[in-house]
Amino acid sequence: MKKFVMVSLSLMLFSGCPPEPEQPEPGEPLAGLSTDELTRFDAGRAVFERIFTPDDGLGPLFNSTGCVSCHNQPVSGGSSAVTEVHATKFEPPDFCDPLFQEGGPVIQQQATPLLQDQGIEKEEIPPSATSQALRSTPPVFGFGLVDGIPDSTILANQDPNDMDNDGISGRANRFIDGRLGKFGRKAFIPTLFDFNAGAFPLEQGITTPFQPAEETINGTPVPPETDPVPEPEVTEEDVQAVDDFVRFLAPLPRKRVKDLSEKKEVERGEKLFEDIACASCHIPSMQTGPSEVPALNHQTVFLYSDLLLHDMGSDLADVCLGLATPSEFRTELLMGLRFRNQFLHDGSAGTVEEAIERHAGEGEASRDAFTDLPEKDKQALLKFLDTI
Ligand code: HEC
Ligand code: HEC
Repeated sequence: MKKFVMVSLSLMLFSGCPPEPEQPEPGEPLAGLSTDELTRFDAGRAVFERIFTPDDGLGPLFNSTGCVSCHNQPVSGGSSAVTEVHATKFEPPDFCDPLFQEGGPVIQQQATPLLQDQGIEKEEIPPSATSQALRSTPPVFGFGLVDGIPDSTILANQDPNDMDNDGISGRANRFIDGRLGKFGRKAFIPTLFDFNAGAFPLEQGITTPFQPAEETINGTPVPPETDPVPEPEVTEEDVQAVDDFVRFLAPLPRKRVKDLSEKKEVERGEKLFEDIACASCHIPSMQTGPSEVPALNHQTVFLYSDLLLHDMGSDLADVCLGLATPSEFRTELLMGLRFRNQFLHDGSAGTVEEAIERHAGEGEASRDAFTDLPEKDKQALLKFLDTI
């Protein structure tokens, strides 16, 4: 035993430091998938990258032509500048109507030629909506791991009445059937499968065995002659394949900093991230629960979020959704932040610094602590953020 330790120690001394584990490149699958899982990942990529036309069932109302039309930066599964429109009805203090009956909460912005022939160019904001919102396309790398985080882990971080008096409460959203919500900027959708499957009809007007009816036009069924392709327009296998692709996509690689003084600065930035309470909401890591897929089973995911809702103040407020009031948003995951180039729920912040400066409400004290940092510390914090 002793001898073994000696040998590995001298190996470490010889090479300078222990070898760092390999990280998948952007767009690659999680490490450790089986051959079967890799085959499913590849099959799913093909459906994710498929561009639908009206002849394949696109529309009649839609936002874009394929998952990849929106999720593509820096590679398939990523973000983009494409935004979509949401609208709901809020009745203070806490009642939210997602306006399903009137075509909400996603208001499709495009129509196929057959629907345009009927004089319809897009879906309208429902008359009962009290507000509308823009949503930029977020990246979904590493989301299989996020899906694997047990509800109990998320609920343990709630502090709705701010019992610890730090100005940060945080509460979970719930879908209409009571399940805990995690996905979307308002954390309304419970599971990754729900989101992936729902994106076909909502974004592309592609019906599935899970949702065989076309989206309505503000509550009115689409004229049959505008929808010639029989439902469902994709198979259960197609939906399952896309879900496998998103689920098995690896998180984006962290930046490896080699230069010693730079490394020290990044470490200082990481500590400041804790010290000024960014980490109170952007919780650096969580563990997944049990999974039949070893690559997702009891793994650590560096998501930098608590997946809870926080009141971010009136300037960022837009629509309500589920329990989320207009000013409440899910702590945005900072996983892969360095690959993004627009920030906040509507993509309206052009830099990370601007996104931080626009935190208010529960984020105000932390934001003030950031703006008050000496320039050197601010740079160290931003440098750290540029490694995740
Ligand atoms: C029109 C562009 C567009 C298309 C097409 C699209 N998405 Fe998205 N996607 C978005 C936007 C915008 C959001 C953010 C919605 C929100 O915050 O409520 C999103 C969110 C997501 C999320 C949740 C991310 C999070 O942060 O919780 C997943 C998962 C996802 N999309 C998967 C897909 C899949 C799979 C497809 C294809 C079947 C698809 N999307 C098609 C724009 C698009
Ligand atoms: C009270 C909880 C809370 C605290 C504290 C907090 N944030 Fe946030 N952060 C959020 C929420 C919620 C969002 C999403 C806001 C939106 O989309 O409008 C967000 C968004 C961000 C974004 C934009 C990410 C993107 O891609 O859109 C960055 C960057 C960020 N936070 C960094 C920080 C840093 C750095 C600190 C510490 C100075 C911090 N946050 C403190 C809750 C918090």
